[in-house]
Amino acid sequence: MTLPNFAFFKGRIVSYSEAKVGVLTHTLNYGTGVFGGLRGYWNEEENQLFLFKPHDHFRRFLESAKLLLMEFPYSEEQLTGRLIDLLRAEKYRTDCYIRPIAYFADEVIGVRLHGLNPEIAIVSIPFGSYVENEEGSHVTISSWRRIDDNSIPARGKIAGAYVNSAFIKTDAVRAGFDEAIVLNQDGHIAEGSAENIFVVRKGIVCTPPVTDNILEGITRRTVMMLLRDELGVEVVERSIDRTEVYLAEEIFFCGTGVQIAAINKVDHRPVGTGKMGPITGKLRTLYFDVVKGRVPKYREMCLPVY
Ligand SMILES: Cc1ncc(COP(=O)(O)O)c(C=O)c1O
Repeated sequence: MTLPNFAFFKGRIVSYSEAKVGVLTHTLNYGTGVFGGLRGYWNEEENQLFLFKPHDHFRRFLESAKLLLMEFPYSEEQLTGRLIDLLRAEKYRTDCYIRPIAYFADEVIGVRLHGLNPEIAIVSIPFGSYVENEEGSHVTISSWRRIDDNSIPARGKIAGAYVNSAFIKTDAVRAGFDEAIVLNQDGHIAEGSAENIFVVRKGIVCTPPVTDNILEGITRRTVMMLLRDELGVEVVERSIDRTEVYLAEEIFFCGTGVQIAAINKVDHRPVGTGKMGPITGKLRTLYFDVVKGRVPKYREMCLPVY
């Protein structure tokens, strides 16, 4: 992986090699941090880098931080401004991924959330696809369960909670699958290791509600709007049973990293025809046009960097 040249670190843009923390840093030891993940899309025709929904991403980032009692003197607009400074320093002319992280910088022993000093850092790297088979992945149902709101809230992007995602992903990949779907404590479909999920049944697109231990995905909201307003399909937020995915006409994952990825097989059972379905196909094409700033109606979701 190409390392960044710069980082936003302790309130300034510094060279990436200066953005270092000590081994005793609280978040490194206890997972008491939160992070975000945004994408920048390079638009060749316009010679422009577009950030997709940066304010929504930084709002969720600050909300995740709030769950961990972190307070910052930054608004989502100010963080977007710092990110633009960073990307202008990097001078990227390619698609990129952006990682903001909020962490407790104290080098102390003692697990807690109070009486600690939070800091924010942001870095960005050039980035393409996140999963191998975006047009037809084979997934399994994980034997792990999604973390519960009363253990570590899944609605926040909490660093330590991603050990749950790491178990899910690695066991799936080692068993020969591309990804896994994980069930929540009630046995309902929650999401993927780092993606939200949509399941088409009898022409209706269903996705788990935010009360089913999912991350409140920004792509999920965008997808729900595009499905309703542009593709004219009905979208319902409801709990989804495990065996419904075996009977679905189409299933896809969505998220900033994965974008829109079709699921063509679950545990060796073909989904629908076993090929990417029409709703997923149309949505993917539309989504890529929207995020690259090519759809005038949704242009305000894309913030130009240069
Ligand atoms: C667990 C989990 N679910 C869903 C998503 C998708 O969220 P978003 O669309 O905001 O990137 C992510 C990615 O950040 C994630 O980590």
